[in-house]
Amino acid sequence: MMWMAGSPLLRAQEVLGDTRDRFPPLEDLVNVFEFEPILKSKVPKNNYDFIAGGVDAEWTLRRNRESFDRITFRPRFMRDVSKMDVSTELFGQKISMPILIAPTAGHQLAHEQGELATARGAGQMQTIMAVSTNSSYPIDKIGAAATGPLWFQLYVGPDWEGTQERVERAVGAGCKAVCITVDSAYNSHRERLLRNRSSAGPVAVPGPGGGRRRAQPREPLPYKLQAQFTANLTWSFLDEINKYAKVPVLIKGILTAEDAKLAVDRGAAGVVVSNHGGRYLEYAPSTIEVLPEIVEAVGGKIPVLIDSGFRRGTDILKALAIGAKAVLVGRPPLWGLGAYGEAGVAKVLELLQSELALAMGLTGAANLAAIDRKLVRIDAR
Ligand SMILES: Cc1cc2nc3c(=O)[nH]c(=O)nc-3n(C[C@H](O)[C@H](O)[C@H](O)COP(=O)(O)O)c2cc1C
Repeated sequence: MMWMAGSPLLRAQEVLGDTRDRFPPLEDLVNVFEFEPILKSKVPKNNYDFIAGGVDAEWTLRRNRESFDRITFRPRFMRDVSKMDVSTELFGQKISMPILIAPTAGHQLAHEQGELATARGAGQMQTIMAVSTNSSYPIDKIGAAATGPLWFQLYVGPDWEGTQERVERAVGAGCKAVCITVDSAYNSHRERLLRNRSSAGPVAVPGPGGGRRRAQPREPLPYKLQAQFTANLTWSFLDEINKYAKVPVLIKGILTAEDAKLAVDRGAAGVVVSNHGGRYLEYAPSTIEVLPEIVEAVGGKIPVLIDSGFRRGTDILKALAIGAKAVLVGRPPLWGLGAYGEAGVAKVLELLQSELALAMGLTGAANLAAIDRKLVRIDAR
């Protein structure tokens, strides 16, 4: 058989038999979940675990999904839904859907083009991308690459002057709003990453020419209780930042009516109801279950946005019916990015947009103004 080794026939078969780099064409994917295994097969295990993981036993991570099952629709019929319009406006900015890209760290963990590709994918679909403080690319580069509106997510610190500089730089790069993340005073307990401690931690995905490598978010290994600079953040910071931000400032991470009221009273332009995608406090409630009390507390004074666990158009419609102005998605755009780059990000958004339009069409709402609280029934636990 030795002679076979040099046979062109055998080599051809080897190539044909190698399925590692063969993925379904983008058009074949039918929902956003299908992007996740493709990303998983393309990036190092630590990167996947960083993206997918929650904390402890991942109760809150699961709860984020399970809570949607308690909510059903009260569809109304015999209404003209022949033309659907899911566009909306946030702080004067027109967007094509009430679906935004949540701020997530280090997009180069998913794809070499990182946030540059994500921003272009969001731009294709004319919606907002919120850029993380811990982005792989600097905010100016992302601003220059963006073809749609950007917001900036702020982790306060490591010092007050640096914080102001960072905000001014982001606003200078074109960011139209700032979200201060307030739910992460301590490094959280990410067990998937702690178990992987023998390896190097998440790393940037190399590009064809080797790519850019940059320090990426890492957990302390082994776990050490470690306060972030934000551990001494209090409501008075809103007064400070409102003096220099020049754009609307939102608070991201609200989970109670009490804090929502404080946000309104202390001059926040909006709140994002979020449990950080199950990545900080284990046994934080799912966001959709606390949305009713927060909407009530805010009383329409400022927009209430929400994230954590949104994967389907029906999930989004449930939040809009309860009173959210828009929904942010964190992991799904990263799955799209890792799987297919910019086109994958746009496709994830497009799928969610058309699923939302479908759910609205089948419940009798031709546009967002037609959605109200009576559209859903929330089962008691
Ligand atoms: C990989 C990853 C990194 C994240 N990085 C940040 C971050 O830098 N700043 C922040 O405010 N939130 C961050 N988040 C939380 C998201 O903004 C958002 O709250 C969460 O992903 C929503 O849940 P979902 O992933 O289930 O959609 C991150 C989430 C993930 C999955």
